[in-house]
Amino acid sequence: MRENSKVKELKGKIQEYTMPYRELMAYYKCAIMEVETKFKVLSEELSLEYDRNPIETVKTRLKSVDSITDKLLSKGMTFTVDNIENHIFDVAGIRVICGFPSDIYTISEAFLNQDDIKLIERKDYIQNPKPNGYRSLHLIVEIPIFLHDQKRPMKVEVQFRTISMDWWASLEHKIRYKKDVEVPKEIALELFQCAEAAAALDKRMEQIQKTVAKKSRTFGSEESPG
Ligand code: GTP
Ligand code: MG
Repeated sequence: MRENSKVKELKGKIQEYTMPYRELMAYYKCAIMEVETKFKVLSEELSLEYDRNPIETVKTRLKSVDSITDKLLSKGMTFTVDNIENHIFDVAGIRVICGFPSDIYTISEAFLNQDDIKLIERKDYIQNPKPNGYRSLHLIVEIPIFLHDQKRPMKVEVQFRTISMDWWASLEHKIRYKKDVEVPKEIALELFQCAEAAAALDKRMEQIQKTVAKKSRTFGSEESPG
């Protein structure tokens, strides 16, 4: 009995101690929901407007406590909610996978034009790929979440990729990203060449899509007068 009450007391203390962290994570979850909904709305609307949907998939993730700790340590910072909020901008992460490279710009511009979205940082690794071949458009945005007694701006990282950029990045990540051991030069070169080949295929596929869309429009207008 005595032990039970001690355990209860300890649990209470732990809960009290971790509450600010759990609260912050709940806010990030809300921010993820807000942003995810925006892409669902765009996807719904655009699939009505066009005969294909430019958004293939939307993935979300909340950064794990381990990754948050590692990132703070690498910045020489201690684990506090203030440090998390002020120095780690990818606690809430959304990945939007599009069909073609041009879809990425259409969707990201439509998203950034919304008046509750504030752009904090934009990194275009499609126009300027990383030296290893990595491609993606990264945005850090601020979005308000509406709580019962306050409106709170939260930072979210949004990554836009085509299917092939995502496929390359996922496999490359498994092979080497953030691993302690350097991959041999020849493997790095091979990975880079795969990224270039994937980008070339993206371009070809986009060209095919444009040609087909143009042809079907021409065909459509020939048909319609009848
Ligand atoms: P962070 O502090 O992690 O944000 O560093 P940073 O701002 O220099 O990185 P950046 O914003 O450019 O990229 C962060 C995220 O992009 C990573 O968490 C990965 O999801 C992805 N990423 C960046 N570079 C690579 C890469 O070379 N390979 C893969 N697979 N993913 C990458
Ligand atoms: Mg970053």
